[in-house]
This record gives sequence, C-alpha cells and structure tokens, in this order.
Amino acid sequence: MKTKITELLGIEYPIVQGAMAWIAEHHLAAAVSKAGGLGIIAGGAAPVDVIREEIRQARAITDKPLGMNIMLLSPNADDLAQLAIDEKIEVLTTGAGNPGKYMADWKNAGIKVMPVVASVALAKRMARAGADAVIAEGMEGGGHIGELTTMPLVPQVVDAVDIPVIAAGGIADGRGMAAALLLGAEGVQCGTVFLASDECCISEKYKELVLKATDISTVVTGRPSGHPVRSLKTPMARKCLELEKANTEQSLEELEAATAGSLRKAVQDGNYEEGTFMSGQIAGMLHELRPCADILQGMTAQAEELLRHAYKRFE
Ligand SMILES: Cc1cc2nc3c(=O)[nH]c(=O)nc-3n(C[C@H](O)[C@H](O)[C@H](O)COP(=O)(O)O)c2cc1C
Repeated sequence: MKTKITELLGIEYPIVQGAMAWIAEHHLAAAVSKAGGLGIIAGGAAPVDVIREEIRQARAITDKPLGMNIMLLSPNADDLAQLAIDEKIEVLTTGAGNPGKYMADWKNAGIKVMPVVASVALAKRMARAGADAVIAEGMEGGGHIGELTTMPLVPQVVDAVDIPVIAAGGIADGRGMAAALLLGAEGVQCGTVFLASDECCISEKYKELVLKATDISTVVTGRPSGHPVRSLKTPMARKCLELEKANTEQSLEELEAATAGSLRKAVQDGNYEEGTFMSGQIAGMLHELRPCADILQGMTAQAEELLRHAYKRFE
C-alpha cells in the first residue's frame, strides 16, 4: 500500500508501532521494521546508554528504517535528541512538549520528525515548526491521552495542516485502518495491538489481561493531575480512582507514591495488585498473540479489501 507516509518514511506498510515506555524495545521495534512497518524505540525516561544499546540491538536485527520517541519533558530529552543524530535514527516521534529547539539539528541530520498531537492547535504549531508529519492521537488509545477521540480529531487535523497526518488511538485491524485513511490520514500508529504480539516482551500476566479484556475493560485515571492515562481496570487503577475522589493532601501523596514505577511493575513483574497495565479500548478486539508481521499484513490486506469493495455494500 503506497501513501505519502510510506513514501516519506521508506516503508512498505503505512503502519507505525507507537512508542510505549518500558515496552517498545529492540525486539518489538525491530520486528515491526523488519516486517515493513516503522518500529519505534521508546526513549521514556531511560538512561541514554540503555537506549543506545536498544538502537544498536535493533540495527543488528534489521537495516530497515527505525524510529525513536522522545518525551520532551523528560530530563533526558537533550541527550536523547543528540543520540538520535549520533545513531542516525531515520524517524523521531515526540510527545509532551515542543521540539522546536532541536528541529534545525535534526533536519540537518536528515531525520524525519513526527510529533504526537491531540489538538488542531498543536498540530498547526508543529507544522509551522517544520514537522514532516503529525500523529493525531485520540483518547481511545492506551497510555497518556488527550481529550478528543480519533474520529473528530483526525479530519480536523487533516484540514488544518498541509503535511501528512497519521491517525492513532483505537486502531487494531483493517476496518480501523480503512476508516482512518477515509478520514484523510496517510497512515496509522498502533500501540495496544502490539501488546498482543509474539515479539512484545511484556510479562505473561500483562498479555493475559490484554487478551481477556472486553470493550469496557479500560479506565482513565490521572484526570485531576492534568495527566490522564488509559489503562486496564485492575486493583491499581481502582485505587487511583478512589484516591483521586478523596482528593485530600494525604490521598494525593499516597497516589503519587503508589503510581511511581507502576508501569514497570506491570511490564516486568506482572504485578497484578501494584502494576499499571496501560492499554487502549481496542484491547477487547484482541483474542490471540500473533507475530508482528501477521499483524501488519493482516491489517493492510483487510483495509485494502474494504477500500476496494466498500461501495458494493451500498449498491
Ligand atoms: C502501554 C502503552 C504505553 C505507551 N507509552 C507511550 C510513550 O512512552 N510515548 C508515547 O508517545 N506514546 C505512548 N503510548 C501511546 C502509543 O504510542 C500509541 O499512540 C497508542 O497506543 C495508540 O492507540 P492504541 O493503544 O489504541 O493503539 C503508549 C501506549 C500504550 C498502550
């Protein structure tokens, strides 16, 4: 499938594997890139040496284009910005902030820059700052989210900017992909669907919970703090909601202490009681583990089929 995104990034399928802190490491990113999508290594708050090693390990598996994600408010952002140049990363996605101050250096290094945006205003600002594309992410998705859902966000961003738009949030199969393309997107970014992939190195418990999830299995916590997060309804998520509701100085302190490191506890330890199992609403559509290559091929083939024949349903 050829779109402006496959051409811009030099990839086969217009599918980007979204950054996922603690999760999107070299096994997953390399598997997606090798199979023809764009794999992304999540910078998160990890030390630069760790991310350098992840990039090099991914490069040892595939020479296809590779992406990296920088959370711009992270203390390591300056170092990761330079690391991307040193390691000749082809594509950068950015979140939580404005990449403006790095843009000239990244451009000189030939890096394609795709900020994640949750509003039209931010999309326009990123386009003005020189972004090559934007990733419009709806709040159906897993992890940190904005306020708008994908369906209204994507076409409004498409209308507002003249660079390619990638749709993210709630896309896990060819139906979602075809819908996103019809809304004007040139590609999709998926996170949750890759939690249910063979190459994703999360705990068995995490995978089990994702596969067991239904349409109403996720919940949003963190709204009062201004940093909402979508995750599976587990004891930890329920505890967060209770502490947020209590809204006392003591409960908010307890909340901060409980959530610190809780994604790592889910990813590495499979700690059901204390972990935060971030996931999008489409977890309810995932019923089996698949290789990344199958996910990419299946999604694209279904989208192509639907786009080619959709009109027949209405004849
Ligand atoms: C477990 C998890 C962790 C995530 N961590 C990050 C992150 O570190 N940086 C980021 O930009 N996006 C992060 N995201 C968002 C994804 O990159 C992607 O945009 C989102 O998952 C798309 O929606 P979906 O979950 O419906 O596929 C995360 C998503 C999940 C599910």
